[in-house]
Amino acid sequence: SNDELQQRIDKVRQQLGSRLLILGHHYQQDEVIALADLSGDSYQLSQMAAASADCRYIAFCGVHFMAETADILANRPEKLAERHGERVQVVLPDLAAGCSMADMAGIRQIESAWDQLAEVIDTEDITPVTYINSAASLKAFVGRHGGIVCTSSNAKAALEWAFARTSRVMFFPDQHLGRNTATGMGIPLEQMPVWDPYADELGGSTEEQIQTSRVILWKGHCSVHQMFRPEHVALARKNHPGIKILVHPECPREVFELADESGSTGKIIKTVEAAPPGTKWSIGTELHLVNRLKQQHPEQEIHFLSPVVCMCATMYRIDLAHLAWSLENLAVGTPVNIIEVDEETSKWSLVALERMLEVQ
Ligand code: 13P
Ligand code: SF4
Repeated sequence: SNDELQQRIDKVRQQLGSRLLILGHHYQQDEVIALADLSGDSYQLSQMAAASADCRYIAFCGVHFMAETADILANRPEKLAERHGERVQVVLPDLAAGCSMADMAGIRQIESAWDQLAEVIDTEDITPVTYINSAASLKAFVGRHGGIVCTSSNAKAALEWAFARTSRVMFFPDQHLGRNTATGMGIPLEQMPVWDPYADELGGSTEEQIQTSRVILWKGHCSVHQMFRPEHVALARKNHPGIKILVHPECPREVFELADESGSTGKIIKTVEAAPPGTKWSIGTELHLVNRLKQQHPEQEIHFLSPVVCMCATMYRIDLAHLAWSLENLAVGTPVNIIEVDEETSKWSLVALERMLEVQ
């Protein structure tokens, strides 16, 4: 039962004390969030892992790329020196907790795209920007090529940083976050070709389209946020006059443009918290977060934007059973599901991640 699992988890927490830090992303299930020491959006979780003062283990209740990022930041050279070389071990309670968006851009595909681009434009004049929802190998690529990592909370600042450096940007893997952010900066859609890694050549664009581009987007998306449609916005407005539409920028442009407000999961929470009682919201982001907001804010009227369930199946894989199992193994010295990024990849990813932490 959940009670039993909670007791098992508490026992390990008592045993490991401040050596254990449990981090939880806002999309986690309520019972997992209730047990997390700290919870946040992707940017906040990166900051927490980077700060991780005296802990030796981070149990990451989120998805694979987040655990990789935590490993890189918690074990960066200055932190390792402070701990006299002792590493923080990052555990992902279920290794099957991946991210389908991150899987839409493989390092070979990115390298091949870059090589093809080099045949038609000067790649010295492109800054690669990777959304944090990507494998560490992509972050390392970006670090090596003068680029930056962004999250949904600092995508605009990251793009501005990139445009101060070069006249073009290549943004992967989420086409929606890239397009929504760049559109908001006044870049016309005609200057944003979408690179399809499965196209025969030049990602499916013409040479001219690439030469006149400002932002080269990648054909990737979030399977959860992609499900929100403009007709859901119309229905919400029809059924609940005066309702405000609040969405995550991973939603398609047609939805994003109809929304009243948008932002990362952290910003969505803050926006609801700051609203006066009686405010009516229709929220377009992962179901668990929306349901939690509904429970925490009975003084407001909160609806889920889609009539169908939009849930992140991989975030959902982290449950109390996996958490208890992985923590107990840590406690007895037989760690399982450790996420450790190799040294070379960590080194270059860190370059791009540190830039991200600076531009917020
Ligand atoms: P944020 O928490 O940064 O908004 O990210 C949302 C998300 O999809 C995480 O995978
Ligand atoms: Fe990936 Fe979307 Fe799930 Fe976030 S919500 S982990 S972007 S599939």
